[in-house]
Amino acid sequence: MFVSECLTVNQQDHLQISSCDTVALAQEYGTPLYVMSGDQIRQNCRMFCRSMEKFYAGKGMVLYASKAFSCKEIYRIMREEGMGLDVVSGGELYTALSVGFPAEKIYFHGNNKTPDELTYAIRSNVGRIVVDNLTELETLSALSVAEGKTAQILFRIKPGIDAHTHDFIRTGQIDSKFGLALENGEAFEAVKAAQTYPNISLTGLHCHIGSQIFDIEPFCHAAEVMIDFLGKIKAELGLELPELNLGGGFGIKYLSDHDPTPYDQYMEQVSAAVKSSCEKNHIAQPFILIEPGRSIVGAAGITLYTVGGVKEIKGIRTYVSVDGGMADNPRYALYNAPYEALIANKATQPKNLIATIAGKCCESGDLIQEHTAIQQTNPGDILAVLSTGAYNYSMSSNYNRIPRPAVVLAEEGKSRVIVRRETYEDLIKNDL
Ligand code: LLP
Repeated sequence: MFVSECLTVNQQDHLQISSCDTVALAQEYGTPLYVMSGDQIRQNCRMFCRSMEKFYAGKGMVLYASKAFSCKEIYRIMREEGMGLDVVSGGELYTALSVGFPAEKIYFHGNNKTPDELTYAIRSNVGRIVVDNLTELETLSALSVAEGKTAQILFRIKPGIDAHTHDFIRTGQIDSKFGLALENGEAFEAVKAAQTYPNISLTGLHCHIGSQIFDIEPFCHAAEVMIDFLGKIKAELGLELPELNLGGGFGIKYLSDHDPTPYDQYMEQVSAAVKSSCEKNHIAQPFILIEPGRSIVGAAGITLYTVGGVKEIKGIRTYVSVDGGMADNPRYALYNAPYEALIANKATQPKNLIATIAGKCCESGDLIQEHTAIQQTNPGDILAVLSTGAYNYSMSSNYNRIPRPAVVLAEEGKSRVIVRRETYEDLIKNDL
């Protein structure tokens, strides 16, 4: 009935997440409130890990792309689930290390890591640094020499794949700020160059074609292109790179009629493409990495708001205003992202109001969704927006000096705060 298995309805007709009554959660912790299902997150991790085991005979690792949702507790969960990590900034790295996440399972990404971030990554002994370009290679080599360490690197490659997704979240094509292109030979030149830099050990390649992708075909195509490139490197340079990171990007269900292909089907088909491409190129199957972010946490999270004013503009539209908005979820404003919402205290009543859900920021574009069906609503109702677990808290801001909401983890009928609500004091703590 809902976009995620962790959502149910109880006898009071209240929406539940991981068997916790969302109306009670709103009362206990206040709104706006992010709620994440710990059960669902763990289940998603296990599904990916099992698939990795099944289709790559354990010759691979699942990295959680932590830009989707980053805080101490999620890194603890990932550590417990045996996952590796993709981090993309010194801040994500710091947060992961602060809870004892094993550094050797951390892959450090980013198209413009600063020298400070690179030094921090080297000193922390992260497993791999994913190098974006030749300038970074040069800097990293010099810093590694200075630190007396050798950096194990992958190169970020643009495989030239044009995946069908929103322009801002598409990354595999040549016109992208990320990585080295194959078409114009710059990727091959970089592989050659890596052999000449001191304290650099090139262990493999990485690609990521975009995000919220439903088709399997572009993933298979990307794997083939990357393995052909590994074949060329072997044939022309006599170098057999042992690792291939195929990135993340698997689409999730935001709306009930979204129908993402089950992820183990993706794993099965991509692994078949990997095997046949390796045979064709006469190379041993490399160690495979994938980097799901959204598909681990996205549908496991919801946001609860309290309904304030309901403004019906006759013949035009009805605005239902909530006590949050673009500061806690900028995705509609940024990408026109679709979301499903419902009144959590009337969960199975018919959705016969077509509403525009508006936030409280001083900005007309501060909308969570337009023309969406929800139940008839009154001030004080709890509105739940579904599938907000990815790229909501992690993209939140203090625009209009609005404190960030708390994040609550719901697990098997129990709930606890994992990120506390910001206070007004927090808002001024860096002001001088
Ligand atoms: N690996 C790399 C190198 C990435 O750049 C990303 C996402 C991922 C993995 C994880 O992708 P996922 O499995 O979550 O699709 N803010 C946008 C999404 C930006 C994605 C950035 N990179 C949004 O809200 O849709």
